[in-house]
Amino acid sequence: MYKNIVILTGAGISAESGIPVFRSETGLWETEKVEDVCTHEAILRNPSRVHNFYNRLRANLQDKKPNAAHYAIANLQKLWPQKFAGKVTLVTQNVDNLHEKAGSFDIIHMHGALMSIFCTNCGHHYEFDGDSSTKSVCAFCGKTALRPDIVFFGEMPYFMDEISDALQKCDLFLAIGTSGVVYPAAVFCSFARDMGARCVEFNLEKSAQATNFTDGIYGKASLTVPKFCEELLLNGTFLN
Ligand code: APR
Repeated sequence: MYKNIVILTGAGISAESGIPVFRSETGLWETEKVEDVCTHEAILRNPSRVHNFYNRLRANLQDKKPNAAHYAIANLQKLWPQKFAGKVTLVTQNVDNLHEKAGSFDIIHMHGALMSIFCTNCGHHYEFDGDSSTKSVCAFCGKTALRPDIVFFGEMPYFMDEISDALQKCDLFLAIGTSGVVYPAAVFCSFARDMGARCVEFNLEKSAQATNFTDGIYGKASLTVPKFCEELLLNGTFLN
């Protein structure tokens, strides 16, 4: 039986909820260039373009609903400690709020969150809805130094100490809907495996990290994840 589980989610878990992934023929990085909207240089060069890009993504979340995979994870997080005295740590690369909407808690948003804003003057991160711009004023220090609370390419992801600690302690690592090409999340599997964890990926197809996983379950996350979580909650383990 397993005890401590780390779940890493990526854009694929939200795809069936109508939020575009980053890398596919119709992915976000086909319509916008990373270097125009998701780097430190981009926000220095053209801050309005960066604000507007994330304003659009934030507005797009309004009518989006979690799917069965988000709900299955929330349910696992709630019931696993009661049934098996373990812990489920949820780490997401996603900046959407579908895990929150599904009822998950203590969500580690390692790449930031659209429903949050960051003040580069006083360092506060706080909940935010609506549109931001170069004229938006920080609710804490009153300065016009706000930026989307998103980890840009080349910046250090958030909460790396907590994530590293959870990966060291876990005996089961699940990666759901991530292409495995963005670091450091791409190496979480090999790190957890070196620490003795069993590692399972859920994807439509083999990811760039597939050979590092012990198991792969391929198909739509809304189908594969609930089935897997159900078995895990019933037996504390799963058959492959
Ligand atoms: N079920 C399961 N997996 C799916 C589904 C689905 N319904 N739909 C798509 N996928 C898989 C794809 O096969 C792909 O491997 O989800 C993955 C999405 O990959 P990316 O678009 O690269 O998203 P992600 O891995 O989350 O990207 C990581 O890159 O640009 C950054 O900061 C951004 O957090 C993001 C990071």
